[in-house]
Amino acid sequence: MKNMENIRAQFPQLQEKVYGKALVYLDNAATSLRPRSVVDCWQEMAFRYNANVHRAVHKTAVEATLRYEQARKAVAEHIGAASEKEIVFTSGDTAALNLVARCFGEAFVGAGDEILVAQSEHHSNLVPWQMLCAQKGAVLRCLPVDENGRLQTELLPQLLSARTKLLCVADVSNVLGLRNPVQEIVRTAHEKGCPVLVDGAQGIVHGSIDVQALDCDFYTFSGHKVYAAPGTGVLYAKRKWLEAMPPFMGGGEMIESVAWKGATYAAPPYKFEAGTPNIAGVPTLVPALEMAQTLGAGEIALQADAVRDFVLEALREIPGLRLFGVPSEKTEKVPIFSFTVEGAHHEDLALLLDKMGVAVRSGQMCAEPLMTRFGVTGMLRASFAPYNTMQEAEYFVASLKKAIDMLR
Ligand SMILES: Cc1ncc(COP(=O)(O)O)c(C=O)c1O
Repeated sequence: MKNMENIRAQFPQLQEKVYGKALVYLDNAATSLRPRSVVDCWQEMAFRYNANVHRAVHKTAVEATLRYEQARKAVAEHIGAASEKEIVFTSGDTAALNLVARCFGEAFVGAGDEILVAQSEHHSNLVPWQMLCAQKGAVLRCLPVDENGRLQTELLPQLLSARTKLLCVADVSNVLGLRNPVQEIVRTAHEKGCPVLVDGAQGIVHGSIDVQALDCDFYTFSGHKVYAAPGTGVLYAKRKWLEAMPPFMGGGEMIESVAWKGATYAAPPYKFEAGTPNIAGVPTLVPALEMAQTLGAGEIALQADAVRDFVLEALREIPGLRLFGVPSEKTEKVPIFSFTVEGAHHEDLALLLDKMGVAVRSGQMCAEPLMTRFGVTGMLRASFAPYNTMQEAEYFVASLKKAIDMLR
């Protein structure tokens, strides 16, 4: 497949070897690999356009600011925001989620109010809400998942009340790899007057996002999971929320005017971007999102679906393997596979796979309440990106079977 070879050539790490074996990188849900276009942009920003943004009038600073703001436009277009003014840059998804917890919480959450969070959330979309509830005397409520990992959305009418100030849910769980019915969730929540925050850390990688069609109030993600430089993150919020929320941090660039007695704040999104941002990293979102669009279309997307279908079937046939996040239809699943194997500890399997050149994740995947829900101490997770080939998928399955045999 010529196109695939060209794509893979753009990700130099795919040529690496570990223990003398070709690296098969299946830890993409933790962080993606970086293409040359992103590293070239990163380097260019560091070596040619290193100046602080939004400040000086000199040529280099103007160019740096331009590139930074072009990234805001590219993000807005990529996720279908109404305006680039609805895009706030942060240091990552976790920072974006904490920003909302702090600022939305400050303005809109009081004692006795409720925050509804899905049981399958990453700690980054749970702990900030726990902290907010503890601080405000609010109540954290849980939208549970069923045995297959599906959100029990039929419970929403009874879980949502006039006291529910925000519903927080991922569009795709980093453990279960299921596409949650976010549009339906938003509709139901809005009918009850409750805004919705969608954690898009995984969803942004697997499929196109249209925040206006979703009608979500907040959408967050990290750059590093979608091929951009680490230390970059995005908070999309409807303008009305950005205007109503107080700032996150105080400092340079988030102000309109400062006197000794107090300050007035800049208009959004700058109100939420205090201090020097990631001036070399943020512009890499432009080539990164271009790469995401290339990988999400045509031949490459078709082969990614074929890989997903193959792995799903192959894992189902392994005796004693328990898959978490069982789709009713294949299209509900993204290629994130978390499982346990009877008689073989996930950590041991991960170590053996590593020796065979296969990089996977093992443990709690920052979702301890979900582990508790399923009564396990951890899982093994293989997460694929569109640049992973069918050959790699076959090698993974064969290596897994070998590792299981070694442990049983
Ligand atoms: C669903 C989800 N939410 C939030 C995060 C946190 O992202 P970061 O560590 O990049 O801030 C992750 C990372 O794995 C994730 O998968």
